[in-house]
Amino acid sequence: MTGLRLLRLFSWAAVAALVLLAGWTVLWHGDQRTAEVGPAIQIGGPFSLVDQNGRRMTEADLAGRPTLLFFGFTHCPEVCPTTLYEITGWMQTLGAQADRLNVMFVTVDPERDDQPALAEYAKAFDPRIRMLTGTREAVDQMIRAYRAYARKVPLEGGGYTMDHTATVYLLDAQGRFTGTVDAREKQDTALAKLRRLLA
Ligand code: NI
Repeated sequence: MTGLRLLRLFSWAAVAALVLLAGWTVLWHGDQRTAEVGPAIQIGGPFSLVDQNGRRMTEADLAGRPTLLFFGFTHCPEVCPTTLYEITGWMQTLGAQADRLNVMFVTVDPERDDQPALAEYAKAFDPRIRMLTGTREAVDQMIRAYRAYARKVPLEGGGYTMDHTATVYLLDAQGRFTGTVDAREKQDTALAKLRRLLA
């Protein structure tokens, strides 16, 4: 199996897992008899990270604007840069409309991706993309809150790479998970989803 096919399978598995999880959360909450049942799809929660310019960002900053959220790491050879280039293209097509989006890239590799590393990496993409890092604990909290997955994989000959959720999450202006968008989708399809999110 080629790397690309594996990658594709992995991405689909990630999307399927997310959808299953969302479904499961709904079912699970459906069983709760108390009045304190939360929103149907519990993705998201408190976080506190710092962007490439040193500005702190928390869940409070998500309020009022729809969000694109993507987990990755700067040493990623293909999926992360490809996705960020696609997102940059969508944002450029949307122009000023994209100012109304929070676009967040959260590193899953804060040990290497500190603020200066993210500042350097960010130069290649739309400057409106906020690239976020923090302590390992702060990043892990974010990963857990968004039901994402990230794992260190040792490389032969030293070093490591990261296995991670490559789904681009779409959240509405209330921070609720509404779906996903994929870098391999046709540009029209992706843009239609973003315009719907902004509508
Ligand atoms: Ni990646």
